[in-house]
Amino acid sequence: MFDKIISKSIPFIPKPVVRIFASKYIAGEEITDAVNVTKDFQRINGMTTIDVLGEYVSSKEQALNETAMQKMVIDAIESESLPTYLSVKPTSVGMGIDPDFGFTNILEIVSYASEKDVFVRLDMENSPYTSLTLDYYKKLREKGFENIGFVIQAYLKRSMNDLVDLKGYQPNVRLCKGIYVENPEIAYKEFTEIQENYIKLLDFMLDNGYYTAIATHDERLISYAEEALKLRETDRKDYEFQMLLGVRENRRNKLLKHHPVRIYVPFGSDWYGYSIRRFNENPEMAKTVALSFIRFWNK
Ligand code: FDA
Repeated sequence: MFDKIISKSIPFIPKPVVRIFASKYIAGEEITDAVNVTKDFQRINGMTTIDVLGEYVSSKEQALNETAMQKMVIDAIESESLPTYLSVKPTSVGMGIDPDFGFTNILEIVSYASEKDVFVRLDMENSPYTSLTLDYYKKLREKGFENIGFVIQAYLKRSMNDLVDLKGYQPNVRLCKGIYVENPEIAYKEFTEIQENYIKLLDFMLDNGYYTAIATHDERLISYAEEALKLRETDRKDYEFQMLLGVRENRRNKLLKHHPVRIYVPFGSDWYGYSIRRFNENPEMAKTVALSFIRFWNK
């Protein structure tokens, strides 16, 4: 209850204060910041995926700017030969304005990336975009692109059907719990129900030849995944763990000793929405931000 009150108070805290704490979760405002984080993590054998911060855009002009930005990231990845790839939110390049227009932009990004041997992950947004995103994936694969993957959210009741439906593609899938607020008719709401579904989906992926990116910081799921991989003697080339920049770094570094690990590295000026979501997931951090502000205010 107290945690919820604290989380709800965050939007009332001035942005510069939030920014100080957000810096833990974002590389910085420039592509060079994301490149530097990648190089640092590469030194300890880690990999990253770079995300240009930004979500739903409301004009075609913004979507085209975002598309150009994604191509700049691809250039940076290629020119520095970095162990990284691109994660893209389809609404940031216009899916929500007009799905055909959004697809044209995604196609441009994926074909540009393909020329430069860069992989592109379609992040999964809220449920109005689930089918559209998976359709984009199918269309891209049908056009012959292999450098593409998508995300499955364990909180969605439809997820197993989606995985089964896409099995023929032997896809590269990131499995996460899901971060948006969804209706109980379509989504599991209980913590353990989501964990149970995560486990079901994970087992299915490992048993059916999907490249499996295990994206979670949840200790129960990490331990389960480690056991499941061991049991199946899954080859290192067929899976990886994924975490967000700045989250559970000790655990992440421990995982790195035994498994491939990739971190999600967001950068850009549009850092506010992303940071608020991170604070909502981490009540301790949200409390620290709120209390620092109260102390500052009372000085
Ligand atoms: P959970 O939320 O239970 O966290 C487990 C533990 O980690 C808790 O102790 C918690 O405190 C700690 N923790 C979690 N987040 C933290 C934070 N920000 N700071 C500090 N501690 C934290 N979602 C989505 O809908 N679409 C997507 O495309 C993606 N993509 C994605 C990529 C990657 C690489 C990751 C790791 C996650 C995503 N997500 C996502 C987000 C995901 O759906 C989910 O919201 C978060 O990963 C939190 O869920 P956990 O499985 O980590 O469990």
